[in-house]
Amino acid sequence: MKEEACAKVILFGEHSVVYGKPGIAAPVRSLRTSVSIAKASVLQIIFDRDIDEKERSRIVELIMLAARELGISSLEAKIGISSSIPFSAGLGSSASLSIALLKAIAGFNRIALTEDDLNAKALALEKQFHGNPSGIDNEVIVTDRIIFFEDGKSTVIIPGKPLHLLIADTGISSDTKKMVRKVRKQFVAYRSEMDGILKPMGELAGKAKDALEEGDLKELGLLMFQNHTLLADLGVSNQELDDLVKAADDAGALGAKLSGGGGGGVVIALVTDEKSERIRKAMEMTGAKVYPTVIS
Ligand code: MEV
Repeated sequence: MKEEACAKVILFGEHSVVYGKPGIAAPVRSLRTSVSIAKASVLQIIFDRDIDEKERSRIVELIMLAARELGISSLEAKIGISSSIPFSAGLGSSASLSIALLKAIAGFNRIALTEDDLNAKALALEKQFHGNPSGIDNEVIVTDRIIFFEDGKSTVIIPGKPLHLLIADTGISSDTKKMVRKVRKQFVAYRSEMDGILKPMGELAGKAKDALEEGDLKELGLLMFQNHTLLADLGVSNQELDDLVKAADDAGALGAKLSGGGGGGVVIALVTDEKSERIRKAMEMTGAKVYPTVIS
């Protein structure tokens, strides 16, 4: 049997969502993790690409944790993992793998999982790897819809128009746990300055929800640029991410921002169909790998 899960992008509110502010996330269905599972005499794990020892042991640990979450003590199965989601890029590769694994192992053992069960178990796995996750990553991947997320709860947003996004990967590893910890340290040391950044971030997410529902892509794009500036103020951007945002802006993108934990990983640019190719080329000129996608 085979199970899949998609990738995600945070459209608004990464980091501020950890502090109870609203965030907006969207599924990226064109990038996926796939987990196949079949009977075997011992546990065997097969990957579709070369991975280093550290990554391998992290994935083995994730499989063990997923089994434990499902109340399974011994897993005699051959598990095949393939993924088109770049690792450590802010695209939810770990949450996507957790969810595909939980669905596959549950199905293989004839355990029925509701969406809520799956979400709770995926969050438990995320906690092992990310310390203090807000829960937005697992929620959007399980829901497979654009969500407005606040205080651990989400509502679905129906966009007035489809979003044409270019996801540009710097190739620099984005360590979400490290970036969340960095922001936490600043939050403790400079509380009022940080409130002055996190509060407007939350307000942007509220405005973005309206723009999304109304299909006002021009306004949505402007809000994305503003969100990027606030993320840079928060200290989670870097030169490569700023350069990508500028390249997208100069080439005519409606909006662009870093997405996910930052410090590396991806920039997302909101584009029109006509300018998409030009913007893609401009972003590739910085050395990034670009994945076009449409979110509806
Ligand atoms: C990661 O995709 C988003 C962060 O806000 C962390 C989280 O919400 O758990 C950086």
